[in-house]
Amino acid sequence: MNDLLLLGQTLRFDADPFATAIEDAAVALTHGGVLVQGGRIAQVGDGAALKAAHPQARVVDHGDHLISSGFVDAHMHYPQTAMIASWGKRLIDWLNTYTFPEEMRFADEEYATDIAGRTLDLALAHGTTTLTSFCTIHPASVRAFFDQAAARGMAVVAGKTCMDRNAPDGLRDTAQSAYDDSKSLLETYHGKARATYAITPRFSPTSTPDQLAAMGALWAEHPEVLMQTHLSEQTDEIAWVRDLFPSARDYLDTYEQFGLLGARGLYGHAIHLEPREIDRLAEVGAAVVHCPTSNTFIGSGLFDMAGVKARGIRTGLATDTGGGSSFSMLRTMAAAYEVAQLRGTALHPAQLMWLATEGSAQALRMGGQIGSLNVGAMADIAVIDLASTPAIAQRARRADDLWEALFPTIMMGDDRAISATYVAGRRV
Ligand code: GUN
Ligand code: ZN
Repeated sequence: MNDLLLLGQTLRFDADPFATAIEDAAVALTHGGVLVQGGRIAQVGDGAALKAAHPQARVVDHGDHLISSGFVDAHMHYPQTAMIASWGKRLIDWLNTYTFPEEMRFADEEYATDIAGRTLDLALAHGTTTLTSFCTIHPASVRAFFDQAAARGMAVVAGKTCMDRNAPDGLRDTAQSAYDDSKSLLETYHGKARATYAITPRFSPTSTPDQLAAMGALWAEHPEVLMQTHLSEQTDEIAWVRDLFPSARDYLDTYEQFGLLGARGLYGHAIHLEPREIDRLAEVGAAVVHCPTSNTFIGSGLFDMAGVKARGIRTGLATDTGGGSSFSMLRTMAAAYEVAQLRGTALHPAQLMWLATEGSAQALRMGGQIGSLNVGAMADIAVIDLASTPAIAQRARRADDLWEALFPTIMMGDDRAISATYVAGRRV
């Protein structure tokens, strides 16, 4: 009943291609099929065989386009959508000049609703089916985002951004109000529709120790939710953290001291890490999130993908819009490739695709549920045209295998390469 069969090339993963040989980790079929039942993936296999076995299914033939899991953006700021690509600043000046004034506007729920809807629609047009977003200090900004995501059937992660110092008037809460508002939002939204709540202290420079302790207490009371923040993005920022927290052993310790280091923690950027920080992230099973277009755009530095993966640290991939310069996870994969090249590692297209789907989903502790084309996962799907522009098409024509055909789209593709997006099996 209401079965849907998508035909095309298919790509799914049996294992992490950083830990397992590519040919064992990735399963690609040239004439594949994905059977969707009740919004979930019911079968993946040979397209003709699935068609014969399920004659009742409605068939959508995507030809030679690639059917992949939808992309999972593991760290972004929806309130920064309208100010993406703001010129000429590094992190702290960028926050003060462009970001904080824009975030002030989210006290207005109508504005927040407009930008939330705009962001979610941009994401879907780029094949991204899950966003993990910071909101602003205003509870209205959180309601707007979760409500707009629910209206689109999307799985999202978000939380009220908490800041009680080093932010302008009108953009500060308190330790108590941050606790109360976060708790109330968490209780309203977490687990409803496809929403996951993340307790969200912005970063330790904008929270007092009291506020970090309040966030840590809330997480201890609700260990089922995620916690997201920023870690070691720019060297100036790290020096500032050292001044603000003189007794902390390092940046990560400013979270650890207050109960904000854990297996459901997401630490954005994580570029300039000390050995102790790497050890602790690995020991507790926390996740770091790589935001490569942001790291080059704001001039933050070169994330050590090979080093972090070699330590077995969960790693997601993210746009970090509007510090990031693109809504596209294809552009984001390209930037991850370039950053890794600058560190002497060539990431394989399978590794890039895995990071943008399963890797991010595992960072969010949602592996097997989203970011996957495997049986049982939600049917959140991106269909990718591997010849979306003349420049890409002429290169892909030379390709001998899927990886060579896909890599030009990873490096040169954008929303024009997304020929269809499905959310829970519904085409959007
Ligand atoms: N660190 C604290 N806040 C932010 C933000 O909004 N964007 C980025 N890139 N880094 C941050
Ligand atoms: Zn961020």
